[in-house]
Amino acid sequence: MATNGASVNGNAAKPSGKKFDPTFTQRVIDATGPKATPRIRQVMGSAIQHIHDWARENEITVDEWMAGVDMINKAGQMSDEKRNEGQLLCDVLGLESLVDEITYKLATDAKDQPTATAILGPFYRHDAPKRAMGDTIVFGIENGDDALMFGQVTDFKTGKPVEGAVLDVWHTAPNGLYEQQDPDQPDFNLRGRFTTGPDGKYNFYCLRPTSYPIPYDGPAGKLLQLLDRHPFRPAHIHFIVGSSPFLCFCGTDIVKVSAPGYKPIVTQIFDRRDKYITNDSVFAVKDDLVVDFVPRKGDPKAQFELAYDFKLASYDDA
Ligand code: BEZ
Ligand code: FE
Repeated sequence: MATNGASVNGNAAKPSGKKFDPTFTQRVIDATGPKATPRIRQVMGSAIQHIHDWARENEITVDEWMAGVDMINKAGQMSDEKRNEGQLLCDVLGLESLVDEITYKLATDAKDQPTATAILGPFYRHDAPKRAMGDTIVFGIENGDDALMFGQVTDFKTGKPVEGAVLDVWHTAPNGLYEQQDPDQPDFNLRGRFTTGPDGKYNFYCLRPTSYPIPYDGPAGKLLQLLDRHPFRPAHIHFIVGSSPFLCFCGTDIVKVSAPGYKPIVTQIFDRRDKYITNDSVFAVKDDLVVDFVPRKGDPKAQFELAYDFKLASYDDA
């Protein structure tokens, strides 16, 4: 809190003309101890500076600050392994999309680039069932548009197919819910892992996705309401695509024998026809990830199809 010229903590009174103590922020930054790592020193020093500047610029009052603290506490209290409200708050503020962009740009400077990334979101589950190529991930859903998705996973530099690439895929049901949000869906519904063969090709049945609202019954929803914003995400399918190096044991050594292994990309594809395509509540859409589903003929299992190739960067790339 600002003092009226009286010295606190043994510090001199602030010079006239400054509304708030001009030495305060630096004192907080300088309290960082010698054992803090350089990265912590840099990141937290900068965070303190920005947060203090923001509070001063906006003349944040104690009541307003406490409302923010309550929001963060409520987000923590309602988070568990099925719900990540802290991440949702960051998503509404565009922070996950921003750090995704920063991470992608740091990793790929070249003109020719691997497939663009997009945020993970809070609904990924590890250990989705491994499924055979050509299988479906759709179980017990009658009211969706079935689609075949297919394509090839290649090395973005050489264009060669990536053998052993794993596509980990997940999306919502037409009711807008991921299976862990919906007691009426079977465990791991609309999720699967598919491994490519020597030609790098993949195909599986899924649904043409639908737009859905992010959960808005908690602090993230309250924030959206305060900002006069809608909670909808454009129809999308999530992926993590990557591959481990092929290793073998040679005596006591582990030796890489063929493919170098490819860095996993976290991404999403977005349906161009969706009405929220230019207005994603969490700001994750990138032009390269917008796709066109087209009608599929002569396949009783799917009315739509989507061709999409994934380009990966090898661990051997700089
Ligand atoms: C999702 O696409 O699963 C998602 C992303 C951000 C917030 C909520 C959901
Ligand atoms: Fe999603």
